[in-house]
Amino acid sequence: MMTSTQTKQLVVVTGASSGIGKATAIKLATMGYHVIAGVLSMTEAEQLQGENIEPFVLDITDDQQIALLVQRIRQDPDHRLLQVLINNAGVELNAPFELLPLQEWRRQLDVNLFGQVALTQQLLPLLRESRGRIINITSVGGKVALPNYAAYAASKFAFEAASDALRREVARQGIDVVVIEPGGVQTEMAAYSGDLSLAFAEQMSSDQKALYGAMISKAVGSQTAFLKHALSASKAGATIAKIATKARVKARYSLGMDAKMTLPMAHLLPTRMMDLALR
Ligand SMILES: NC(=O)c1ccc[n+]([C@@H]2O[C@H](COP(=O)([O-])OP(=O)(O)OC[C@H]3O[C@@H](n4cnc5c(N)ncnc54)[C@H](OP(=O)(O)O)[C@@H]3O)[C@@H](O)[C@H]2O)c1
Repeated sequence: MMTSTQTKQLVVVTGASSGIGKATAIKLATMGYHVIAGVLSMTEAEQLQGENIEPFVLDITDDQQIALLVQRIRQDPDHRLLQVLINNAGVELNAPFELLPLQEWRRQLDVNLFGQVALTQQLLPLLRESRGRIINITSVGGKVALPNYAAYAASKFAFEAASDALRREVARQGIDVVVIEPGGVQTEMAAYSGDLSLAFAEQMSSDQKALYGAMISKAVGSQTAFLKHALSASKAGATIAKIATKARVKARYSLGMDAKMTLPMAHLLPTRMMDLALR
């Protein structure tokens, strides 16, 4: 996508303080892009200093911070265009559908869907100017809803759907929308999410434990096992950076062997068989 005469085009990566976002931001910066790296606080920004990386305080659920980002790009001192937006920020707290408090359902939808929508809406005019690209980091969980992952999966299914609709709406405007569906990636989120689920389970009543305790332990156990062989964040970041910048891209990529195996299976198997397989 970028030629040697076009170095230092602007790229925005959200949720760049850790994990996949950080690795993607660092990789793109080494490739010569100027990366505006979204972080939640300036303390996190300190770990992200480096050539071509500009940490920027960006909570994607905060309209004012989004407006400041738009202003920053519009007033770029070198008149560079925004070439790529990487919607990577995300949160998860996995717990049974019945027991996860509604406010926690809302928080996950708020960050994993509405925040991405809010930011994308505001950056679309800038991407129209550059005929740029949007990369949406969804998840295998955006295609396969595992037990204990209802809220997270709901947010990622919705993000997948919104991405497809958006791609079909803006293709004629010269903007491309690409979905990347990672399986397990060794990141902070992945490392802590099992502990968060177990801590949630600890707070459950004995009746609730009888209903859901074993399910949560199984979900956490299999996630831990999967993560041992999962992609590293730096490999995931390098792949995302490559997809973000190559000339011709598919509309959708899966990331990691587990994703590449699970997604076709989910497509082929009848739902009841998938239910059994996932149980
Ligand atoms: N790791 C996996 O196995 C895996 C698998 C499939 C999909 N994914 C997806 O990949 C993306 C990156 O996840 P990760 O594993 O790299 O997790 P991570 O290390 O926890 O990164 C998530 C990033 O999002 C930021 N964030 C949280 N709330 C935000 C908000 N309101 N506004 C802006 N940024 C916010 C976090 O900031 P703080 O750290 O400051 O809270 C962090 O930088 C997520 O969308 C996740 O759903 C991950």
